[in-house]
Amino acid sequence: MLIFPFLVGLYASITCSYAADTISANQTVRYNQTIVSPQETFELGFFSPPNSMNHYVGIWYKKIPKRTYVWVANRNTPLTDTSGELTLTLQGVLILREATKGNVVWSSAKSSTTLVKNPIGQLLDTGNFIIHKEGEGTNQEDPIWQSFDFITDTLLPGVKLGWNFITGHERRFTSWKSPDDPAFGEFSYGIDIRGYPQMILMEGQDIKLRGGPWIGFRFSGISTLRPNRFFNFTFVVNQREIYYQYNLIDTSAIMRLVLQPSGRFELLLWSDSKQEWNLYSTRQTDICDQYAVCGAFGSCNIGKSPVCECLKGFEPTSPDQWKNTDWSQGCRHTVPLNCSPGEGFNKYTNLKLPDTRGSWYNQTITLVECEKLCKSNCSCSAYTTSNISGTGSGCLLWFGGLIDIRTNAESGDTLYIRVSASELGNSKTILLFSLLALRLSV
Ligand SMILES: *[C@@H]1O[C@H](CO)[C@@H](O)[C@H](O)[C@H]1NC(C)=O
Ligand SMILES: *[C@@H]1O[C@H](CO)[C@@H](O)[C@H](O)[C@H]1NC(C)=O
Ligand SMILES: *[C@@H]1O[C@H](CO)[C@@H](O)[C@H](O)[C@H]1NC(C)=O
Ligand SMILES: *[C@@H]1O[C@H](CO)[C@@H](O)[C@H](O)[C@H]1NC(C)=O
Ligand SMILES: *[C@@H]1O[C@H](CO)[C@@H](O)[C@H](O)[C@H]1NC(C)=O
Ligand SMILES: *[C@@H]1O[C@H](CO)[C@@H](O)[C@H](O)[C@H]1NC(C)=O
Repeated sequence: MLIFPFLVGLYASITCSYAADTISANQTVRYNQTIVSPQETFELGFFSPPNSMNHYVGIWYKKIPKRTYVWVANRNTPLTDTSGELTLTLQGVLILREATKGNVVWSSAKSSTTLVKNPIGQLLDTGNFIIHKEGEGTNQEDPIWQSFDFITDTLLPGVKLGWNFITGHERRFTSWKSPDDPAFGEFSYGIDIRGYPQMILMEGQDIKLRGGPWIGFRFSGISTLRPNRFFNFTFVVNQREIYYQYNLIDTSAIMRLVLQPSGRFELLLWSDSKQEWNLYSTRQTDICDQYAVCGAFGSCNIGKSPVCECLKGFEPTSPDQWKNTDWSQGCRHTVPLNCSPGEGFNKYTNLKLPDTRGSWYNQTITLVECEKLCKSNCSCSAYTTSNISGTGSGCLLWFGGLIDIRTNAESGDTLYIRVSASELGNSKTILLFSLLALRLSV
């Protein structure tokens, strides 16, 4: 029992002079030296991606023979030789310097003149590298600095993806440019808070894919994320923060969610027997995932051909374009609204809830009050409950066009859409239609 750690220590001290989990002030890590987390889960050091002459500082799994990087410091400012020196300054700032040129290529903070009493940099077994004051615990929420605040392309279990309103900091992840280049790529994923929070995959400045809004215990319209034995997940919305997080239930599992350079999400699980990453799940996308493919008040149904149809009570805005499968103009009310008191709401079921940018919400209002609120404002086009758990609670209001809806019997939700008086009360026909649709799909 005693010999083993000794041998490990000896081995470590031969291959690299560090093998400690910490770096203290004024200490430097050089090429071929690494920092290793206490249980030897993660390792921090210099690396060069395949087919690349550039060098980076990053974090990878120590025990996995297939080198897998979960974090990169100097993504956009590679070192061009092996003279890199990573130093923790007396101010508690991590600085990466190219010794041959004498320039700083990356640092954990722009500048800091405040001395920190005994700052320590420490690599944790969660994969987080934190800088904290000596004597302060390692599981505090806000250390001086932490790599978890600067996610690269990998969301590790336990990382909060989203917003911290106390610090104003957003955590989102961005793909590598290519498998050989960790520079910022085209795709990024995060929580959009312009309205009720929702997860959005961006390609450059464009919305590529919308995860539906979180409605209590799942995302509307997303059927791939299900309860399972490996991990659980949560989405938290409060005054302090808004975040998505997944945690391992089976802590022996090694799992990571990565946004590939192609924009594809992959949830990967390490297989000890096969010694490779197994694809646990991916976000299969189809034409209906194309953002706003059917335009306003249109709904995309992958089981139909063509896939776009107007919601009931709506008709194509440009019938000719619509016939030619140019759905960009979307649909409009068959009987236009004029804000008359007789207007009301029809119930639509099995829908991935529309884009919530510009929406309004309150998590304590009931559905009855929610309808009243929507009815009292003529630009309010739809409402629903923001939390379908239990008997339902919370209120979500949309204004103007409803965009990016898809019909999804498996994980779709209910939406109440404003229609004119003459269109009201067609719920029987709608029920008949959904029953028919159900029969057809069975
Ligand atoms: C930091 O390191 C430099 C160079 O190794 C040394 O000259 C200096 O005295 C050190 N400062 C402290 C406070 O340890
Ligand atoms: C790092 O280690 C490798 C293999 O032992 C060696 O070839 C190389 O020269 C070392 N690089 C530096 C910069 O020390
Ligand atoms: C997820 O599982 C962990 C470990 O079993 C548990 O501590 C945590 O409370 C669970 N979280 C949720 C949101 O269910
Ligand atoms: C939600 O509505 C309730 C009841 O009207 C109100 O007391 C509360 O302040 C509202 N919450 C927010 C975040 O606006
Ligand atoms: C209706 O809601 C919109 C969007 O929140 C708001 O700008 C407008 O002032 C509201 N109108 C009324 C009459 O409350
Ligand atoms: C959603 O509703 C459930 C059941 O009523 C409740 O336990 C939970 O706290 C609610 N979530 C939010 C965010 O209000």
